[in-house]
Amino acid sequence: MSDDKMKFENSWGNQTRAESYSRLEFPNTYYLAYRDLPEIIARHVTVNRAVDFGCGTGRSTRFLKRLGFDVTGIDISQDMLDIAKKFDISGNYQLVTNGNYEHLGVGQFDLVQCIFTFDNIPGWENRTNILKGLGKLLNRTGKILCLDSTPELYTNEWASFTTKEFPENLNAKTGDIVRDIMLDIDDRRPVEDIFWTVADYHKLFNLAGLAIEATFKPLGHENEPFEWISEKAIAPWMIFVLKKDIT
Ligand SMILES: C[S@@+](CC[C@H](N)C(=O)[O-])C[C@H]1O[C@@H](n2cnc3c(N)ncnc32)[C@H](O)[C@@H]1O
Repeated sequence: MSDDKMKFENSWGNQTRAESYSRLEFPNTYYLAYRDLPEIIARHVTVNRAVDFGCGTGRSTRFLKRLGFDVTGIDISQDMLDIAKKFDISGNYQLVTNGNYEHLGVGQFDLVQCIFTFDNIPGWENRTNILKGLGKLLNRTGKILCLDSTPELYTNEWASFTTKEFPENLNAKTGDIVRDIMLDIDDRRPVEDIFWTVADYHKLFNLAGLAIEATFKPLGHENEPFEWISEKAIAPWMIFVLKKDIT
């Protein structure tokens, strides 16, 4: 199915989902998404001003605050933002529309963090427009940190997800809807994401005028207090550190 033709509804655009998500911290497979970020950020980013794009209920925003950033959380779901604000009353959380971020401050930010956000964004043109808009926020040395599911997430079993009810995920192409069930929350309705290959992420960054500075694919370790299923052999997440391509 062409990603520009299908109808994709943001899984997080309603109150029940938002509340369910807000109770999620860093259990199981999610631990691997965040485990290495302090070190990655310390190595690639200057700690000062950040935008958390797709901040959801604020888990990723509060994480950046704990690392010492002055953060603005932005999202297209008011339900998610309402909960983020409850957890962090003095925090700065703003509703945005696609590609329109200039009011936040062009060239003002050291970091734009996008954690599990592009997994929910359909369309080449839409994604490119959004990434270009986010790129404008970066200062000269600023970075975009983009963390999303690997293609393998949708065809394997994990401590936090099951995908075995969705064998059609195996045939997914970039832009298709893929499904999984989250095991860490009570709401067991399938979650829909947008599938995107690694090669197409590379093309997308190129189209948006961004260059890859580093890529990470964290694996689970034996001594960690989780019942890893695929996590020690297959990475569930990929993390791209991006900079403006000035070549
Ligand atoms: C899976 S949640 C991740 C939340 C948070 N980053 C975290 O790690 O806990 C994805 C969030 O991205 C938001 N989102 C989806 N499409 C978006 C878009 N085009 N612009 C801004 N936010 C978007 C959703 O509303 C949702 O809150």
